[in-house]
Amino acid sequence: MTCVDKDADRIAKLNAGKIPIFEPGLEQLVENNVSADRLSFTTDLPASVATADAVFIAVGTPSRRGDGHADLSYVYGVAEEIADALDGYTVVVTKSTVPVGTGRTVSRIIGERRPGANFDVVSNPEFLRQGAAIGDFMRPDRVVIGADSERARDVMRRLYRPLYLIETPILFTSLETAELTKYAANSFLATKITFINEIADLCEKVGADVQDVARGIGLDGRIGSKFLHAGPGYGGSCFPKDTMALVRTGEECGTALRIVATVAEINDKRKRAMATRVIEACGGSLEHKTIAVLGLTFKPNTDDMREAPSLDIVPALQTAGAAVRAYDPEGMAEAEPLLPDVVWCRDAYATVENADAVVIITEWNEFRLLDLARVKALMRQPLMIDLRNIYRPVEMAEAGFRYMSVGRPVVGGN
Ligand code: UDX
Repeated sequence: MTCVDKDADRIAKLNAGKIPIFEPGLEQLVENNVSADRLSFTTDLPASVATADAVFIAVGTPSRRGDGHADLSYVYGVAEEIADALDGYTVVVTKSTVPVGTGRTVSRIIGERRPGANFDVVSNPEFLRQGAAIGDFMRPDRVVIGADSERARDVMRRLYRPLYLIETPILFTSLETAELTKYAANSFLATKITFINEIADLCEKVGADVQDVARGIGLDGRIGSKFLHAGPGYGGSCFPKDTMALVRTGEECGTALRIVATVAEINDKRKRAMATRVIEACGGSLEHKTIAVLGLTFKPNTDDMREAPSLDIVPALQTAGAAVRAYDPEGMAEAEPLLPDVVWCRDAYATVENADAVVIITEWNEFRLLDLARVKALMRQPLMIDLRNIYRPVEMAEAGFRYMSVGRPVVGGN
């Protein structure tokens, strides 16, 4: 397997064993496969494509400025380069998340540029979660393959053969169906999260506990217990972008996707509203207050800051007058240029020093078992706003904290 990128610096680093992102287990996996001669990195696209049976397009499809639609210029650009280099029957697979119809366009681009070229275009959407990507790849719930020809299906079947041993369902569909399945999956998961977030707001008003509600509904097999964890709103490189792109596709086709549109809107507002919670918890003003922030990335086990709730919360706290101290186990290098005027700390304990409140934004494991007595002693006052519900209210009250979480009763203090 050969990985190709235009960025020579990135390829040089990969060849030196340096992984450009933080993903648990990836470095070891890459090292093992490089030393076994199964994996290499290069900038030479033509040579790699010419010898390949299957070429995966895995370039970015960022939200286009202005209209929120997926920017397909990288996909189309690489399709042209692939067209120029094709040699013998090749399956061109789109892994990038692309709107319905893109596969057909890629096929047309290649066909027009290289009339008579022997190829098929296949859609094979990606369902990996960052931070759990290797496990998700090795043990997927399903593999979706959108292909028109039996020859292409056969190449894909052989490629995924190792997964047949663990009886992974492999779903063969049309190109359009596979493309839409990816957006529908991400939009549904975003809807599930947003649903439980709104239920959490109601729980706070009526004195119910959202964790119990989530369990109570999740045990119903028709609903399922996953992705019902209330929090500060979803972030990351997929849900915000993909929900918007699906809504745009719906608009273009004259089919309004009102649920997904509303989910995206609620989530945006929610991320911004989290700062208001902190301000209210601190008595309505953050002037001369110090706020300690634990966790900045959009989720744990990644250094990715894309669409992270912290990007809304931290500046809003600063605007309200707070001095912000922050720490993230892996995300600080990414976060620093995005969040000015923050005091960066070396660990959770250094962060909470003289703070008027500590806010947990990302549920890294190392925040789950803090020495609460030590945290309390370091802070100016023992106030915790836990936006990920990683502590139990009873235990926080016992430790002498005023503790506010999401969708659960406030405990401690006055
Ligand atoms: C997601 C999809 O899960 C994956 O299938 C797809 O391939 C890419 O997009 P990812 O963005 O890596 O993966 O992370 P995910 O674990 O889905 O979390 C996304 C966001 O939702 C995070 O901000 C997370 O904190 C939030 N989330 C997730 C919740 O707030 N509650 C939940 O119950 C689950």
